[in-house]
Amino acid sequence: MLTTQLIERKRDGGRLDPDEWRALIGAYVAGDVPDYQMAAMLMAVFLRGLDGGETAALTESMLASGAQLSLAHLGVARVDKHSTGGVGDKTSLILAPLVASLGVAVPMISGRGLGHTGGTLDKLDAIPGMRSDLTLGQARAQLERIGCALMGQTREIAPADRRLYGLRDATATIDAVPLIASSIMSKKLAEDLTGLVVDIKLGSGSFLRDLDQAHALADTMTALGAAHGCTVVALFTAMDRPLGRAVGNALEVEEAIHSLHGEGPPDLMEVTYALGAEMLQVGGVARDDNDARRQMQGAISSGAAARKFQEVIEAQGGNASVVDDPAVLPQAGACELFEAPRRGFVTRVEPRTIGRALIALGGGRVRPDDHVDPAVGFVITAKPGDRVTRGEPIATVFASDDAGIELGRAALRTAIEIGDQPVDALPLIVPGSRPRLATS
Ligand code: URA
Repeated sequence: MLTTQLIERKRDGGRLDPDEWRALIGAYVAGDVPDYQMAAMLMAVFLRGLDGGETAALTESMLASGAQLSLAHLGVARVDKHSTGGVGDKTSLILAPLVASLGVAVPMISGRGLGHTGGTLDKLDAIPGMRSDLTLGQARAQLERIGCALMGQTREIAPADRRLYGLRDATATIDAVPLIASSIMSKKLAEDLTGLVVDIKLGSGSFLRDLDQAHALADTMTALGAAHGCTVVALFTAMDRPLGRAVGNALEVEEAIHSLHGEGPPDLMEVTYALGAEMLQVGGVARDDNDARRQMQGAISSGAAARKFQEVIEAQGGNASVVDDPAVLPQAGACELFEAPRRGFVTRVEPRTIGRALIALGGGRVRPDDHVDPAVGFVITAKPGDRVTRGEPIATVFASDDAGIELGRAALRTAIEIGDQPVDALPLIVPGSRPRLATS
């Protein structure tokens, strides 16, 4: 294989056949293709795109670069949920135990914060003692025992993706549908899933440019899943404001725990139930949306979902008493209420500003090895459309010191806009979402 010829062909708008993708990715992982050549190939893909066959071949090659779980012996459906990234999105923390408590196995591979968005692994880290660096063997044993495992991408899973992702990050080639879809699906398919629900975020806080890109991603992921007998369902949900009230790792764990006890904010629960209903239907344990919702409400009111979260935390070395007493979570050194500066209607709560401010407070990373302060963040109670009066408390800043409080206050002043007229926010479940069923 002459790598330069492959790059040249892709650069000029041609295609690589499956054997060529397999050879290229294999050689890259083996260290026989240098980063500079792969970077050139990624840019050629970014500019020229991949057809369906090429995307499938790339995904297969990335999947085959590592180990895969084998879970058919569980005898139940295995369903995960993936989000394209948001601010205040703690639905995974609620859904994994909730859906597992209803008889669907949930092997969930999550990531860390990316850009202005939060990551489930960082949230789990806020729980004292909790480990998410499970090996595939540990995940498998845990799934056999309690039906749920919350883990990161280990060294064993899709090593090609880990290297390619770092290279894409450094070469401005993240934002391409075939590369995003193959990256996500090479990890998800390693979980031996029978179903995957994808939460595609739309709005100013989303990485996706528009509805067309969202549809393209949903279609590509659906086709990749179908080839592996994994039914992929895509929902489009609003990310033009933070989801729920809490933004910040420990604060979001606390809100997820309240949600598992039946006290979640309405917007968070609407999105959680919409995604959960798809997970339960794809998992074959609910007949329809109403049945799924009834079951989820039952698991929350009976305490089964909260107990499952306790089991998962305990199995992964965490302090499970957090589910009864969220006060064991790390607490911020300073907090301050933020009041509405004028009367009127909340017209905007800008998620990117809030996500970036969380990083500036120390609650996220600028560099991969940055320390994350789990306690800092925001609780924002005001939502677009709310009528507020001057001086009314609409948010709280949690920081480690006075400088952080000032920074948080400044971010809230920028992020929360108040006008004279109410404006329309995106519906939480954006029309255009449509379940797409696997064909094999
Ligand atoms: N998440 C991933 O795992 N990969 C991408 O390319 C984008 C988001």
